[in-house]
Amino acid sequence: MQLELQNIKKSFGEGDSRIEVLKDISLGIEKGEFVVLLGPSGSGKSTLLNIIGGIDNADSGKIIINGKLMSDMDEKALTAYRRDHLGYIFQMYNLIPNLTVRENIEVGAYLSKKPLNIDEIIDILGLTNHQNKVPSQLSGGQQQRCAIGRAIVKNPDILLCDEPTGALDYNTSKEILALIEQVNQKYGNTVIMVTHNDAIKNMADFVVKLRDGGIRKSYRNEEKIAAKELDW
Ligand SMILES: Nc1ncnc2c1ncn2[C@@H]1O[C@H](COP(=O)(O)OP(=O)(O)OP(=O)(O)O)[C@@H](O)[C@H]1O
Ligand SMILES: [Mg+2]
Repeated sequence: MQLELQNIKKSFGEGDSRIEVLKDISLGIEKGEFVVLLGPSGSGKSTLLNIIGGIDNADSGKIIINGKLMSDMDEKALTAYRRDHLGYIFQMYNLIPNLTVRENIEVGAYLSKKPLNIDEIIDILGLTNHQNKVPSQLSGGQQQRCAIGRAIVKNPDILLCDEPTGALDYNTSKEILALIEQVNQKYGNTVIMVTHNDAIKNMADFVVKLRDGGIRKSYRNEEKIAAKELDW
């Protein structure tokens, strides 16, 4: 098991306003799996992703990555863990506005000990003709492709995506999903993708449905549907 969550709990707030956002989450994810985390707004998806990503702490429970317990890591080890093993793709692209597409992707490569080839990534992303533009000169889909490039050029063990298509139209969303699918298949990175689009579950190896901070249902797909064939 590459990633194990055991009895993860998380609350926010104090006293009467205290809410239990993650109630008791246990999950095991294998290396290379494409995981889709589904659930309505407020069900705890981003909170769980942030905890897996070492951006936020759980109140209790265990996270074991590649056999290593995360709480045993001090701040320095956590920083190294995020840098060496994780890639993030967010709903908003978070690109550096005054750097070109190529330079934004280079930032990701500098952070890695084992970066992928930048030209190859730019080519896969279909950004070769846009590589010298800055983000404000790109469409939303192109910006998201650049953000994917920045995350995957690190060749992270685990790619965390929080609503990566949330800001995009239907066709561009499918194109971005196909790209993440291609990355998962080509480089074998584990992908954990948060969405509230139910159709996306069909492209996953492993589907986890959250409701009110608990796992309502989780299962593995015997057959997957390619991102391009999805419809919603
Ligand atoms: N920093 C915080 N302080 C207080 N409450 C928070 C904080 N972060 C999240 N919450 C609450 O925790 C709950 C779960 O939030 P979370 O962002 O994980 O939901 P989500 O499933 O990602 O929803 P969405 O689909 O809308 O992004 C919500 O009720 C939210 O208001
Ligand atoms: Mg969210």
